[in-house]
This record gives sequence, C-alpha cells and structure tokens, in this order.
Amino acid sequence: MKTQKTTVGTIDEEVLAFTAGRDVELDVNLIQADCIGTAAHVTMLSRMKPAIITADERKQVIGELKKIIELADEGKFKIRLADQDVHLAVERTLTEKLGDLGKKIHTCRSRNDQVAVDLRLFAREELLGAIEEAVALAAALLKFGRKHQKVPMVGRTHMQPGMPSSVGLWASAHAESLLDDCVLLVNAYELNDQCPLGSAASYGVPLEINRELTSDLLGFRCPVHNVLYANNSRGKNESIILSAMSQVMLTLSRMAQDLMLFTMPEFGYFTLPDELTTGSSIMPQKKNPDVIELVRARASKVKACELAVYDLIKGSPTGYNRDLQDAKEFFMDGVATTRACLRVLSPFIEAVEVNKQALIDGFRPDVFATDRALELVGEGMPFRDAYHYVKENIGELESIDPRKAIEQKTHLGAPMGIDWALFKERVAAVNAIVREQRKMIDRTVNKLFAEK
Ligand code: ARG
Repeated sequence: MKTQKTTVGTIDEEVLAFTAGRDVELDVNLIQADCIGTAAHVTMLSRMKPAIITADERKQVIGELKKIIELADEGKFKIRLADQDVHLAVERTLTEKLGDLGKKIHTCRSRNDQVAVDLRLFAREELLGAIEEAVALAAALLKFGRKHQKVPMVGRTHMQPGMPSSVGLWASAHAESLLDDCVLLVNAYELNDQCPLGSAASYGVPLEINRELTSDLLGFRCPVHNVLYANNSRGKNESIILSAMSQVMLTLSRMAQDLMLFTMPEFGYFTLPDELTTGSSIMPQKKNPDVIELVRARASKVKACELAVYDLIKGSPTGYNRDLQDAKEFFMDGVATTRACLRVLSPFIEAVEVNKQALIDGFRPDVFATDRALELVGEGMPFRDAYHYVKENIGELESIDPRKAIEQKTHLGAPMGIDWALFKERVAAVNAIVREQRKMIDRTVNKLFAEK
C-alpha cells in the first residue's frame, strides 16, 4: 500500500485521490475567499480574551494571506493533492512561512465552516455578477424593444396567428421576465448573505469566539444563527442559488426558442448578423443559430445542476457529510453556465436585425378577427354575438394596416401602453443594489487587509 503524508494524517494514495476528488482543481476558485475568510478569523482570534494570537502575529498572517491572493491572481498558487483542498493548502503555506504561528490559525475553526464561508463569499461575487449581467440583458432587450415598439408583429397563441402585436411587446416581455428573475437572484443573495464561520465542525467550540465580529469583518448581513444549521445550510444555499439561476435560464431558453423561430427564412422576421452564426462543414450556404440553440441546451444543464445538488443533500443526515463536497462542481458549473449565457446574449440582442416588411407581410386578415369583433362591441353589439358574426363572415375580413391596429392598443402593458419609464426604474433599482453591495464589500475587505 502506497501512502501519502498530509497535514491531517497519513493516507492511502488511492483514498487520498478519491476523497480529494476534483477539489484540487475546483478550489482554485476559492483561494481568494479562503484567504479573506481566514483574515477575518485570525482578526477575531487576536481580539479574543485571552487572545489566541497577538496583534502583531495577526499582521504577519494577513501579510502572508495578501501574498497568497497575489500569487493566486497570477495563477501561481498551487493546491497539491497532499493538501486535499484549498483550506489545507493555505494552512500549509502559512506554516511554511510563519512556523508555529501558521499552526494556530485553525483554532476554533473546522474545514466545514471554512468551506461554507468560502462558498458564500464566492457566491456573493458570482451573484452580483449574474445580477449585473441579467439586468444588462434586460436593458438591451428594452432598448431593442423601444426602438422597434411600433413595428407590428403577429401575436401568436398555440404558435398560430392570434392578434396584432409588436416587436416592442415581444422584447419587453422577455425583459420583464428577466427583471423578475433578478428579484429571485437578489433574494438568493440575501439568504446567502449570512456568515456560517465559527460554527466549526457543526457544533460550535468551547471557547468564547465572536461570530458577530467575523460576520461584520466579512461584510455579511449577519451570522447564520444556529451552528448546526450553518452546516446543514451548505448545499441548501447552493441549491437556492441554482434555483434562481435556473429561472434565469428558463427566460433565456424561451427567448432563444423565439429567436430560432423568427430567424427561420420562412418567417424572416429577424436576421442574425453572420458573425453571430456558425457554418456547416458540408452545406456551404448555412448560417446556423448555434448560440441560441446552446442557450436552450444549457437551460437543461443548469436545471440538472440544481437537481444534482438537491438530490445530493435531500437524504443527507444532519451535520457535515462529505457528500457536500460533490455539490461544489455542480454549483460552480451551474453558476458559470448561467453567467456565460447572459453575457453572450446581450450583444446578440443588440445585433439582431428587424425586417419590418417581413413582419408586416406576416399579417393576414384573420389576425384582425378579434379586433373586428371588439369594434362591433363598440357599436353596441354584445360580445358573443359579435364573435359569432365575425366567425361566420371570416372570409370577409379586411386587411387593416397592422401599424394602425397596434396603435389602438394603448392600455396598461399593451403594445402601445408599455411603461418604458417603469422598466427603466426597475433596471436602475437592481443596478443600485449591485453597486451598493460592491462598494460595501470593497470597503470591508480593504479594511480587513489594511495595516493598522
Ligand atoms: N473539501 C471539503 C469539502 O468541500 C472540505 C471539508 C472537509 N471536511 C471534512 N470533515 N472532511 O467539503
């Protein structure tokens, strides 16, 4: 049996590789968070009574943590298999640099609360990025919709022609959906914004640690109160975030589906610029909408990530279980996938060309059937009678200029009743949340690392 010495015991090599799993590679995403979490923890240790480390020792640790962050930024901080994960890699490095002092940093902490706090710090950044990207796409859709608000489009139900509609209504519908998704992302952000540090293995520690202090030092809204729940909430927190992300993907997927349809030559409503399409290796004429097809596919993938995390934890007994480690890859993948889709679609929407004539040509007289029935209502006929009259005389319907038809739809939320100012306010409100949180986080983290 080949064994390997690690910080926490000598382990069979195969067991080491099996249990470390993908942590050696995935934890690279957590290096900065681990250092920030550790900086808060050692600051708290230095303020305990009696203090576990001195103020000067705290300074030394913070100095080394800064160096690790710098190395990580250059892609030069290595997590070895013998480290198992980022937590022990950071502890090993600090011990190499600072000797016994490095061995003190793990006092009153477990890797369980450490990874939980790392993931929440990581998630906080990712959520702010995702919210910002989602709102940018909503803004792009609103700009597009407003520009083409008067361009008529056949409104469909069951995919069949229904009533006169507009490009503006179509685009702002997807924008409003995204703005609702932002509410879910912000809710997920607020739940994530609680600090699990100090919960240790799952049951707290017999020394007077100050969990409120570490929470404040890290800029969290508050600590997760119950130390057991702090550990049980790992996985749950990720699944909440992925569930919000999966709603974003639901919006994107349906929009992508519409775009695929409307760019079909048979429709010709919209055209995609060549640079945003891909060709075929055999059919020279092809300009395929692969981007939006993949957005549709990735909605399935993000949902699968959400379900994977949910399934991993649904039978998980209380307290930390190693199963939680396997949620990491689904979480990181789901978040990165959602963000990539959001980023690729903003310039995509901006570049979509609208073919006004094709949209107008799409109108046949029967699209005006309901409008005609309501016109008869205006002349005093009961609606059901008007409905039957139009149904029986459908062949006699005249074509109306669809531009005129949508001009009549002026009530709240209808093609000519879209409150663009309201949408603008919603976009600004979400952007303000992101800006404020970022400012607060920057201020807090800078303070934590500042020389005192
Ligand atoms: N890499 C581990 C994870 O992600 C860290 C926690 C390990 N804790 C333990 N008790 N083995 O879950």
